[in-house]
Amino acid sequence: MFHPDGPSLIDLTRQALSSTERGYDLLAQKFDVTPFRTPDLLLAPFFAHVFAGGSVSSALDVACGTGAQLGHLAPFVKGRLTGVDFSQGMLDEARRRLGPRPELLKLDARALPFDREFELVTSAGAFGHFVGADEDALLSGVSRALVPGGRFVFLTTPRPKATSPAFWVARGFNAVMHVRNALVTPPFIMFYLTFTWPELRPALERHGFSVSARDGLVPGRLSRVVAVTATRRG
Ligand SMILES: C[S@@+](CC[C@H](N)C(=O)[O-])C[C@H]1O[C@@H](n2cnc3c(N)ncnc32)[C@H](O)[C@@H]1O
Repeated sequence: MFHPDGPSLIDLTRQALSSTERGYDLLAQKFDVTPFRTPDLLLAPFFAHVFAGGSVSSALDVACGTGAQLGHLAPFVKGRLTGVDFSQGMLDEARRRLGPRPELLKLDARALPFDREFELVTSAGAFGHFVGADEDALLSGVSRALVPGGRFVFLTTPRPKATSPAFWVARGFNAVMHVRNALVTPPFIMFYLTFTWPELRPALERHGFSVSARDGLVPGRLSRVVAVTATRRG
């Protein structure tokens, strides 16, 4: 559907009718040729921005998938480099692509077990999976995982204007997902218009972060993407 080697419409339908976790297990081997993987043309300037002040001793990538972010993090992280995801299929692909170095843990990002263990936490391309109380659970675990002064740096977008087609496409997609989840269990949790900037700022501040944001990392179509830096207060 997206690429000759990518998933067919039937593959995507099977995925969408599974749980979120199982859906990604099914998609894992073809994930890297879908538009769901965060593109390197965005990740390269993002990590140049993240590491403008130099490298770090430890980093965690949340909902790491097949390792898009971990590959960029590796040269800048001197010590522990960890990726977590709840899909074993996605973690297997990450291991195949990245080799032995990163620690890859099968964990639910809504219940991260780390306590002041990382200088940097990153995430991209996964926030549609954390809505309502799950957003709070994610932010609470990320905040706890960071050392005081540590940074949570992630990519998101502004909320499209209610007059734009993008807003109504997103609303339409969300409506379909609500219907799907009302009719089929287990649910597949994936919604647009989540974790948007600056609407997320109060939640970040409530979880003990000081926040700044930078847009325009890349020109053109992706220029709306925002890199948010949330620094854990001591
Ligand atoms: C669209 S992929 C993004 C992967 C990667 N970060 C990227 O940018 O290419 C979303 C990932 O989030 C993971 N995920 C979704 N909900 C999760 C949860 N509650 N805990 C851990 N991983 C989760 C999925 O398994 C999937 O690998």
